[in-house]
Amino acid sequence: MAYYHRLGNIPPKRHTQFRQPDGSLYKEELVSSKGFSGIYSNLYHIHNPNNVQNIGKPTPFDWEIAKEHGLNQTHLKTAGVGTTGKDYLSARKMLMMNNDVMMGICSPEQRKMDYFFKNADGDELLYIHDGEGVMYSQFGKLEVRQGDYIVIPRTTIYRFEFKEEGPLRILVIESKGPIETVKRYRNEVGQLLEHSPYCERDIRPPHEMHTESEKGEYLVQIKKQGMLHPYTYGHSPLDIVGWDGYLYPYALSIHDFEPITGRIHQPPPVHQTFQAWGFVICSFVPRLFDYHPLAIPAPYNHSNIDSDEILYYAEGEFMSRKGIDRGSFTLHMGGLPHGPHPGTVEKSIGAKATEELAVMLDTFKPMFVTTQGLEFVDRNYPMSWTE
Ligand SMILES: [Fe+2]
Repeated sequence: MAYYHRLGNIPPKRHTQFRQPDGSLYKEELVSSKGFSGIYSNLYHIHNPNNVQNIGKPTPFDWEIAKEHGLNQTHLKTAGVGTTGKDYLSARKMLMMNNDVMMGICSPEQRKMDYFFKNADGDELLYIHDGEGVMYSQFGKLEVRQGDYIVIPRTTIYRFEFKEEGPLRILVIESKGPIETVKRYRNEVGQLLEHSPYCERDIRPPHEMHTESEKGEYLVQIKKQGMLHPYTYGHSPLDIVGWDGYLYPYALSIHDFEPITGRIHQPPPVHQTFQAWGFVICSFVPRLFDYHPLAIPAPYNHSNIDSDEILYYAEGEFMSRKGIDRGSFTLHMGGLPHGPHPGTVEKSIGAKATEELAVMLDTFKPMFVTTQGLEFVDRNYPMSWTE
């Protein structure tokens, strides 16, 4: 959910005759959420969106909780990991999960997808840690670059073309509920308020229609109920000439998130960027430190009795942590306190600013490491506060 947007050609009134140059009707499709009560968009297809030619055998595309991991403050070291698989889907490695959300990494060898993907299980939030490219979807072309969050509403059909040069690394979050801007940042009609750390100008919807009118065989891998269902259509799913509405993928750069700072340490809610069912996403960005003469810039020890807190370290030095690399994840579990490593509190005093960049996911239900995540566990981390 962002704001009303339209792209391409649409008729002046919805649900009315809208004809192609050959006189045939465009095929209207309403993509709606929460039945007919949530946000929606109307799309205009050249071909029938139900023109299925073949349905292949479904294959599992899901992850399992590693129950044996137990109650441990957790560090997943993924810094040294190169590519994680051949293509966009096989490279997707979910490392932590619960019933509301999954989080992992994706560094595919192939930069250009030769199929389309549709996630019918949940909304996706991608964070482009490294890489640059174009996302092609029914809603048009969206250029993406390092530092972008990309919010992809469920059932959006898309494919990526990333540039061949340089590393490619994507942080992937899949959410059962819709990923939205933060409610307390919005006024009663949905506009982002003056105190919001970002506004509509920072939100980048698809900027140009990309219409593929050709017929042929087009594979769409549909994720539903933890399975991948290969659907072949008789035309490109990107056969849209125009659309309008509130439901569409968009990008928001972490570099456009304006930090809120104070005289004393500000709590994580000032960093909140998105909300969803059962979790929030926060952005820690370069900012000035607290300016009270006796301020301690490092955070205090913290027992959050209701949340598990995951940090993904993107760039910069993390003054409260030791042994954390670019690409590390930490999972601090509710039920245990967490806080700065020994020596880092005194060291932080007098520091004026930080260049740190991190994505935080706080869940309201316990988060678990997956069996795939176990291979990245730093076994020494739970004892790393020992003096
Ligand atoms: Fe915390």
